[in-house]
Amino acid sequence: MSNQKYAIFEYHDTNEIYNRLNALVNQPIRPIQRDKMELFLSYFEEKAVKSKEMTDEAKQFIPGGVQHNLAFNYPFPMAINKAEGAYLWDVDSNRYIDFLQAGGPTVLGSNYTPVRDKVQEIINTTGPVTGLFHEFELNLAKLINQHMPAVEMFRMLGSGTESVMAAIRAARTFTGKKKVIKVGGAYHGWSDQMVYGLHIPGTGRMEATGIPKGANRNTQEFYPNNLGALRRKLMMNRLKGGTAAVIVEPLGPESGTRPVPFEFNQHVRELCDEFGALLIFDEVVTGFRLGLGGAQGYFGVKPDLTIFGKCVTGGYPMAGGVGGRKDVMLTFAAGIGGTGERAYVGGTLSANPLSCAAGYFAIKEMESTNAAVVAGRAGDRLTKGLQEIIERLSLPYVAYNQGSICHLETSGVMLLDFKNPIRLMRELKPRKHMMEEMGAAYMASGVVTLAGSRMYTSMADTNEIIDNALDRFEHVLSSVEGI
Ligand SMILES: Cc1ncc(COP(=O)(O)O)c(C=O)c1O
Repeated sequence: MSNQKYAIFEYHDTNEIYNRLNALVNQPIRPIQRDKMELFLSYFEEKAVKSKEMTDEAKQFIPGGVQHNLAFNYPFPMAINKAEGAYLWDVDSNRYIDFLQAGGPTVLGSNYTPVRDKVQEIINTTGPVTGLFHEFELNLAKLINQHMPAVEMFRMLGSGTESVMAAIRAARTFTGKKKVIKVGGAYHGWSDQMVYGLHIPGTGRMEATGIPKGANRNTQEFYPNNLGALRRKLMMNRLKGGTAAVIVEPLGPESGTRPVPFEFNQHVRELCDEFGALLIFDEVVTGFRLGLGGAQGYFGVKPDLTIFGKCVTGGYPMAGGVGGRKDVMLTFAAGIGGTGERAYVGGTLSANPLSCAAGYFAIKEMESTNAAVVAGRAGDRLTKGLQEIIERLSLPYVAYNQGSICHLETSGVMLLDFKNPIRLMRELKPRKHMMEEMGAAYMASGVVTLAGSRMYTSMADTNEIIDNALDRFEHVLSSVEGI
């Protein structure tokens, strides 16, 4: 095994990626030829009959017919009944190469047997939950601390969303300040205060339907990578009671869809120190996927608080937690410890034995297999292959990756923003629809992606599987207009 500890072997040339993305978004879309698209869509009618029946019925009982935003729902959602390693099977027995990987948590591959066996042992002994302390709570907290020394203490919660809420509450309690600054377009879950500048930078409350104005009055966003804008916000806030925290996805908004230059996080750290704000790293995606030390280990930047989700339970339920500096983390216990006001958090099923054991054994397995690095190599192979296809077919599309997080931008929808509001209004729908069509065409060709533009690789992705996936991608990419 090599000494490589992180999934990224070479950091991307961020300027070059933006040049290509800007070129993509500055030209008309290049969707799939209409007759070819008809053929891709006929797959669903002919080969996914049971999925259609089941999810049609689901529309009567489940709003929109799906429970999860990442469930691919164009032309209709697929019903999955088997997952193993790099593959998914739908209820019509079609097999797919799975680059959704449940949205990221399964770096070991889906349904990894050694972890499942340990989880089954726990279920046989304690069942999923007792409401009292279990040794795996301690084991998991110690293991995380060992890999991420900045996480001096760890409090487990039910999801990434909850953990962001908790971290902000702790930051406000600790600093006595109110404002929280996020990067426009970044996703930090769906709590009232974080549905702000969601997906598209500059959109503020655009998605905040059902959320009273007061709930995100103290949330602010700055344009991705614009450190000057961050400084200005911090300065203004200083005159109005100060900034409790700056929260970032360390690879950039939407899991690096708008990538950051390597030094970005260090600069944010320095600004936080200058203005007395806490730095929160949202490592829901990067935590353990980038390597056991997370993005903080990779970039060598120490956050005050870290958000966990997804990988922290290896894909098992109740995946969330917040960790960090002891003095800040103790605000969660202050009421119990008897000193000071506490930042209240809870959750009946939080830190249950099943989730803690699943997380502990998943991380141990990742240690012994170097899973993040293996998955990162698969991500490199996939991305290089996609770049070659794009080059060969002279397409304007852009493929890049941060280890096992791979991006394939074909419609450029993720790059629209409020800097050009007319274009945003005019092009959002058609570009979004093109992305849906691309996702459907990949699916009809046997590859599941995240929303048609992102792929998570795992340890289960052998060279053979990646090469097979590349043939399938090529089949789709050679069906676009102008080829
Ligand atoms: C960076 C980031 N933060 C927070 C969340 C929310 O986590 P959860 O879905 O567990 O609530 C996500 C979910 O995808 C995420 O990607």
